Amino acid sequence: MHNILITAGDGIGPEIMEEAKRVLSCFEGELSFDFTEKLIGGAAFEQYGSPFPKETEEAAQKSDAILFGAVGGPKWDVLPLAQRPEKGVLAIRKTLGLYANLRPLTIWPQLVDFSPLRPEILNDVSFIIVRELTGDVYFGEPRGFKEENGQRSAFNTMVYTEEEIRRISKVAFDLARKRKKRVCSIDKSNVLESMRFWREIVEDTHRDYPDIELSHLYVDNAAMQIIRKPSSFDVMLTSNMFGDILSDESAVLSGSLGLLPSSSIGGKNALYEPIHGSAPDIAGKGLANPIGMILSVAMMMDHSFNRPDIAKNIHQAVSNVLDKGLRTTDIWSQGMKKVSTSEMGHAIEKEIRMM
Ligand code: IPM
Ligand code: MG
Repeated sequence: MHNILITAGDGIGPEIMEEAKRVLSCFEGELSFDFTEKLIGGAAFEQYGSPFPKETEEAAQKSDAILFGAVGGPKWDVLPLAQRPEKGVLAIRKTLGLYANLRPLTIWPQLVDFSPLRPEILNDVSFIIVRELTGDVYFGEPRGFKEENGQRSAFNTMVYTEEEIRRISKVAFDLARKRKKRVCSIDKSNVLESMRFWREIVEDTHRDYPDIELSHLYVDNAAMQIIRKPSSFDVMLTSNMFGDILSDESAVLSGSLGLLPSSSIGGKNALYEPIHGSAPDIAGKGLANPIGMILSVAMMMDHSFNRPDIAKNIHQAVSNVLDKGLRTTDIWSQGMKKVSTSEMGHAIEKEIRMM
């Protein structure tokens, strides 16, 4: 029995989660699931006054895997940071010790024309971002606002411990062993102490991985190389904030932010979520692309339930649907069939059931 916690969240979260559940339903029988649904983010704030209520936390602790949609919306923008919806996802990651966030980039040949980059730049592009997820300026102390001599200021702390850098580096090197054996670590060691330390510890950890080729890039240069020569990357190792930024940038290569899944691992269980946000502007209209969410289910099958075969089938189903010309609005172009969020989910379900 696999205990799965569903946290759909806000905005388009509930819509894409419906499609994830539809895909999961294809494997009921072959696998057995026990689903629990809990609130997180703005939806949880409305009911409990907290974006990560105790109830959700307890259910998360008990689950084998968590499916997470998205959080946030303009309604809650005025709240203090500690109560904002975003705090819900930050807290669940931190509480469960999910320090490694894996964000693989797939270039779908069917969508190459939709990418803002020229097709020849996208040849042989396949990389994965290994983003540190529970440290950095996101969680560093001290942080806050202050007022001194009539001057107001605000501050955060970019801090990493040796252990935090070592364990995320190991995740990247281990993953590279199963891929093209190349790790590129991203930092800003020319300016920031914490990032100079990052480079030092990454290099030290690398001593145990002589079979892996390690290179380093400053984050500004990395942002440029992702556009200029994305095929040069295999495993990209990043700190929390740099990974947040570079993963949105990378997603654009594939054609849409809505296509990218992620897994957050390192604790006793794992969390799966698309990398995009809650897109409140399109929520409830059937315009959201459920593919990033559905591919997050594939990552769950592979990592949490040890079923790489099912993960592969889900990928194949997505590919078949794209072959048939079905497109949600974000990836639609002339001559293709425009479909809604749930039509896309239904089509993927149908492909899976035919396998
Ligand atoms: C992401 C998101 C989150 C982050 C937000 C919603 C807190 O942008 O998962 O990339 O910054 O980590
Ligand atoms: Mg982000």
